[in-house]
Amino acid sequence: MAEFIISQEALRRNAELLQRVACAGGVHVLLALKAFATTRCLSVLRPYAAGCCASGLYEALLGAREMGGHLAVYSPAYETEDLVQLEGIANHIDFNSLEQWERFAERCVSHPRAQKGEMQFGLRVNPAFSTGRTPLYDPCRPGSRLGIDMALLPGKLPSGISGLHIHTLCEQGAQDLIDTFRAFEEKCGILLQDPSLRYLNLGGGHWITQEGYEVEKLIEFLRRLRRRYRGVEIYLEPGEAWSIHTGVLRAKVLDVFESMGFRHAILDISASAHTPDVLEMPYRPDVFLTEKAGENSPFSGVPQPAVCLPGESYYRAGQAGETDFTYRVGGVSCLAGDVFGNYSFRRELVVGDILTLDDMAHYTIVKTTHFNGVKHPGISLLTSNGRLTSLRCFGFEDFQNRLG
Ligand SMILES: Cc1ncc(COP(=O)(O)O)c(C=O)c1O
Repeated sequence: MAEFIISQEALRRNAELLQRVACAGGVHVLLALKAFATTRCLSVLRPYAAGCCASGLYEALLGAREMGGHLAVYSPAYETEDLVQLEGIANHIDFNSLEQWERFAERCVSHPRAQKGEMQFGLRVNPAFSTGRTPLYDPCRPGSRLGIDMALLPGKLPSGISGLHIHTLCEQGAQDLIDTFRAFEEKCGILLQDPSLRYLNLGGGHWITQEGYEVEKLIEFLRRLRRRYRGVEIYLEPGEAWSIHTGVLRAKVLDVFESMGFRHAILDISASAHTPDVLEMPYRPDVFLTEKAGENSPFSGVPQPAVCLPGESYYRAGQAGETDFTYRVGGVSCLAGDVFGNYSFRRELVVGDILTLDDMAHYTIVKTTHFNGVKHPGISLLTSNGRLTSLRCFGFEDFQNRLG
């Protein structure tokens, strides 16, 4: 049975770096639950995070229950029933339009928690400054619905608003944040100087735990911000940075055959159902042929997946044509494009082979579906002491129960 495996040690490594940024930069670093919300792993991150950011009521309830700390909520729109519950638990509620704020302002500011200063309200603003390359993930793309058009903002913060929120980045570096903030300051400086401003949320997309990220540059920038905007608390809400390089998806080869000029390998998972970003973004995951460790196992120094189990060896597949054993690796759903990519292996694939798809914790586990009734991979944790613990198995009832 296919399985996601998450490494406790790798989660902790990411968390330590993010906590260092928070301490050295004098800012609050939240976990964006939209990227990673495996409940039984949240306790690993909890000691390092200032709290979490939620995309709406359900993530907020999860965050309040499982993470604690500061709870920041932003949604492109709220409905009254959800807001009623959010007002009971959130510390920041950020609004995506002046219309939504005007609709809810009165009830928000008069809430006892707001009166006591336990809850504040902010506006998400669109700095209209794109630094990303993938339009699907670019909130600054033309015609975006995310964040208020700066041309529509008044010259001062509306009464009751004490926060500004920008989120524009996706898998990006410190310089992208610096450039974005400069553009934001140029167009929105007057609001940043507003005496009512109490918090500034710089969103997510900061690829802090990715190799090559300029961590010291980020810290220096955050310190400068703190000096320039005294009295304003600064928040970052990365998701991916907490959970990149922490998980893999192991799958089994169900069939190998030739058709239409390709050798195909069909796995017991689906790109469409289990790794939708592979198709949406699209991107090509690293795939490792996984074998029992033997005498000729690869020496250390060769690429390895984020999670390696004791007694196994991992051989990274190459581009198509690099070896004589090239396969179109596909999923088991009926979708014609349910394909992970074309990969070449060190030997012929046979039914029963295990392939490990790398880096499958962030945004993957949270996005899976039961499309086609493909069996849902289980979720396991490799604990710091090397024990593999099953967190969740899925069966037919899970498939049926979702469908009403
Ligand atoms: C408002 C907001 N905050 C935070 C994040 C987390 O971003 P990332 O996981 O890229 O760090 C996102 C991602 O879409 C977002 O939309």
